[in-house]
Amino acid sequence: MTVHIGAEKGQIAETVLMPGDPRRAQWAAETFLKDAELVNEVRGMLAYTGTWNGHRVTIHGSGMGMPSLSIYANELITQYGAKTLIRIGSCGAMQSHVKIRDVIIAMTATSISTPSRGIFREINFAPCADWSLLRAAVETAEAKGIAPHVGGIYSSDVFYDERPDLSDIMTRHGILGVEMEAAELYNLAARHGVRGLAVLTVSDHLQTKEALPADERERSFGEMVEIALGAAFA
Ligand code: ADE
Repeated sequence: MTVHIGAEKGQIAETVLMPGDPRRAQWAAETFLKDAELVNEVRGMLAYTGTWNGHRVTIHGSGMGMPSLSIYANELITQYGAKTLIRIGSCGAMQSHVKIRDVIIAMTATSISTPSRGIFREINFAPCADWSLLRAAVETAEAKGIAPHVGGIYSSDVFYDERPDLSDIMTRHGILGVEMEAAELYNLAARHGVRGLAVLTVSDHLQTKEALPADERERSFGEMVEIALGAAFA
């Protein structure tokens, strides 16, 4: 057990999928994993370990925002030996050619700040995805008939952003979408020498103000789980 994870050593797989929402972790485990077992419920942050095509996998909620993800990813890596961590979540589109329901695979993640700011200080570290995972995720998506957008995203500290100029700057620099977790996952993966990736579905559009209807979220979430699993074990 750690401060925030109730699992015993050995109950967490080396491959961990991390949705923001703990109930999504439960849904994904029940839908995609064989013999899924609940291994954490401390503070309601559900995690399940089971197998997919014979491979052990844990699906562990991250919560919303980088401080929350940082707690779980740190403990998963340093206390439980996680080696491959893939965020599966939603994002807001920042480009007109990126549409609702599209899949974005994040090559890099820009941020204003992250929980690692105190370590990097004057350094503008460039958090980036693991190349082998990124390539495998693109190949897995394409094999399923999905053409993902691959490029930079913005990991914001706020969902309700009072600075529209920031979105404009991101858009002008080709950033595909905004979410709130990936940059710190990539920082932690780099620091600990493990593999990190974020696979995202566009749930809302900052320019058109469209939003994915609630009943469609589950299907698009399922596609991300399949892309992440395919990439992890390619
Ligand atoms: N996640 C999904 N949509 C988002 C948005 N518009 N801003 C930040 N995080 C998000």
